[in-house]
Amino acid sequence: MNTSEQGFQNKTSSVKVLVTGAGGFIASYLIPELLDLGAEVVAFDIAKNPAGLEGIRDRIIYVRGDLASPADLYRTMMTYRPTEVFHLGSILAGPCDDNPIQGFKINFESTMTLLDASRALNVRRFVMISSIAVFGKDAVEPVQDEAVKNPANVYGQTKLASEHMLLWYARQHGLDTRALRFAWVFGPGRKTGITALYSSLLLDAIANDESLEVTNPDETGDWLYVKDAVKAILTVWQAKEPGQRIYNVAGGVHSIRDVIEIAKQIKPGARITLREGGAAASPYPSAYDDQVFRKETGFKPDYTIEKAVREHLEIVSGKKVVS
Ligand SMILES: NC(=O)c1ccc[n+]([C@@H]2O[C@H](COP(=O)([O-])OP(=O)(O)OC[C@H]3O[C@@H](n4cnc5c(N)ncnc54)[C@H](O)[C@@H]3O)[C@@H](O)[C@H]2O)c1
Repeated sequence: MNTSEQGFQNKTSSVKVLVTGAGGFIASYLIPELLDLGAEVVAFDIAKNPAGLEGIRDRIIYVRGDLASPADLYRTMMTYRPTEVFHLGSILAGPCDDNPIQGFKINFESTMTLLDASRALNVRRFVMISSIAVFGKDAVEPVQDEAVKNPANVYGQTKLASEHMLLWYARQHGLDTRALRFAWVFGPGRKTGITALYSSLLLDAIANDESLEVTNPDETGDWLYVKDAVKAILTVWQAKEPGQRIYNVAGGVHSIRDVIEIAKQIKPGARITLREGGAAASPYPSAYDDQVFRKETGFKPDYTIEKAVREHLEIVSGKKVVS
């Protein structure tokens, strides 16, 4: 059953959304959708001039601030008094492992501060992007929502701690918190993260006729096209009664080799060299079960892997690619 709020799109005129991580990959697709729904958007990021927001800067309020600074966060919340918070800002696996204290400051303490301010200001809904990094490599696949959480790295720990804090604020204070766990979100514009090289940047290289060596072609992961990730975020935000609050979201499991084959059917001249035996990029399981999210909200991705790869290549190369 689809429990999305009917007609919600027509009621967004008084909706003011704070988006953290606004200069990042996923936010660059989310913010235009929020604007199209009629929401006022306050975009928060540490970047001076995020490329992803070019073209919409005059339609948003941009706040340059640091997630590691409670003062920056409280000041932003108090100044703009958002009705909704979309917390996407974080640092990813490499930087978290390099500096765990900074990782917890940016990823976890920011969540606590924003939850605290959201409670004080009666925020209507608080949505966070978590990660399948909360699970350990040893989890039974397809990994279910309730599988044991045994993060393989500091990034996963920061996300798991944040998930617990969301649930606590819901239980203890009645704050309406929700979160989604993504795996390999791909699409034009993704530059960061340990799996970017063998997903988005690989497709960028094919689109740009650049050569690339792939040493882990048989590594598999769950590929979720960025527009479906945004659809999932809007779905969980609008869901009337998300029983579980935190959900896995899956696109489809594919090997890197399979995706290269799909890309080669669209662009036969792709200059990708496959070598064998390289280490896997991802320390996470490959396959996730998102049936609970789909059942509770009616969510269904719009993109097959073929359609997503084609669109990615077309956008990056700036032209229609013929098959
Ligand atoms: N991309 C994926 O495959 C994926 C998968 C699972 C979860 N996620 C989660 O989704 C969210 C968005 O991911 P993304 O791919 O857009 O990441 P991204 O790296 O493109 O964007 C993150 C943004 O956060 C900002 N940021 C970093 N440190 C900051 C700080 N101290 N203060 C203020 N802003 C800061 C960065 O400038 C960047 O614009 C993240 O929370 C990430 O953990 C992403």
